Amino acid sequence: MTTVATMIPHSRPAIGQEDFRATTEVLRSGQIAQGPWVERFERGMAGFFGLQGGVAVSSGTAALELALRALRIGAGDEVIMPSYVCPAPWLATQRVGAQATLVDIDLNTFNIDPLAVCQVVTNRTRAIIIPHLFGLPADLTALERLGIALIEDCAQTLGSTEQGRPVGTVGRLTVCSFYATKLLCAGEGGMVLSNEGALLERVRSLREYDGAPKLDPSSCNLKLTDLQAALGLSQLGRLSTFHERRRFLATAYREALSSKAAVCPSVPPGRTHGYYRFTIRLPHLRTDPEGLLGLISTLEQQGIHCRKPVFRPLHRYLDQSGFPNSDEADRTALSIPLYPGLTDDEVHQILQSLTKVLS
Ligand SMILES: Cc1ncc(COP(=O)(O)O)c(C=O)c1O
Repeated sequence: MTTVATMIPHSRPAIGQEDFRATTEVLRSGQIAQGPWVERFERGMAGFFGLQGGVAVSSGTAALELALRALRIGAGDEVIMPSYVCPAPWLATQRVGAQATLVDIDLNTFNIDPLAVCQVVTNRTRAIIIPHLFGLPADLTALERLGIALIEDCAQTLGSTEQGRPVGTVGRLTVCSFYATKLLCAGEGGMVLSNEGALLERVRSLREYDGAPKLDPSSCNLKLTDLQAALGLSQLGRLSTFHERRRFLATAYREALSSKAAVCPSVPPGRTHGYYRFTIRLPHLRTDPEGLLGLISTLEQQGIHCRKPVFRPLHRYLDQSGFPNSDEADRTALSIPLYPGLTDDEVHQILQSLTKVLS
């Protein structure tokens, strides 16, 4: 395969002078592990959501695990989640010894389908993990009617709204990820946020073993460092600028691609989209199992790194069936580069290649 010299990456963190200043200040202070910057970042994120508090941890996956533990979910309990998501929610559920019940998605939004959720609720269901995928809120209004604890997974969506309510403010617990390519990056990192002080206290006590009154085998070291927190906090200050650029790019993509063979991201009434990912659907690939990978390879040869937005639906790892929408998304969904640092020239190049291959 021939590859071009300059590849437009699928994702790129937006690191600016403010980030250099903030992290240098921490390095100079001599205090780089968990300390005052972590507390500041927790207050900053809680303020962003308008929630009582947050507890910073080492990753989004750790945040999911501690959110489940805070709800005292364990062996014998069931946790519902969509199949079309990265393995983090399933892994967290396994870690606490609970059973993960997978459901299908709504193909138009790529998010968990509330009707599918209704069909699998049992008297052992203790929580629903709701990833808001690609920047679009899930149907929180329908999900909260079920009266089950909601854990909002905001790893891919911050600031978008559903019926006027920002994501992360509806569930009992909210988790974030600050992985390098996320909306806010800290290299790695995560946070659990809530309006319930008791849940926050439990997460705080679970994140580290130092100072615990007795030895507890489930204790961990899942702390964030001040160095990461300074980067996250500095990025938080620019989140609205990042979103503005993302929305601008999404409009440009939408205009250029709407007449092609691509279905652009849909935004149901009452919801706003943050465009963490610009994921298009290519229905003509529905019956072509290798088509999507072939297209990704063609675009790569033209210097554009596109990806399947979810590597593999969870039901396929687990040999389960009955998830037609997740299967269709797996065959037809393509994520094209969209991030604040994308230059106008790069956008032009992406659109030129895409319109050509989709004509
Ligand atoms: C929806 C969702 N939840 C959770 C995670 C896990 O976050 P982390 O990579 O920080 O563990 C991710 C990461 O990709 C994600 O996309």
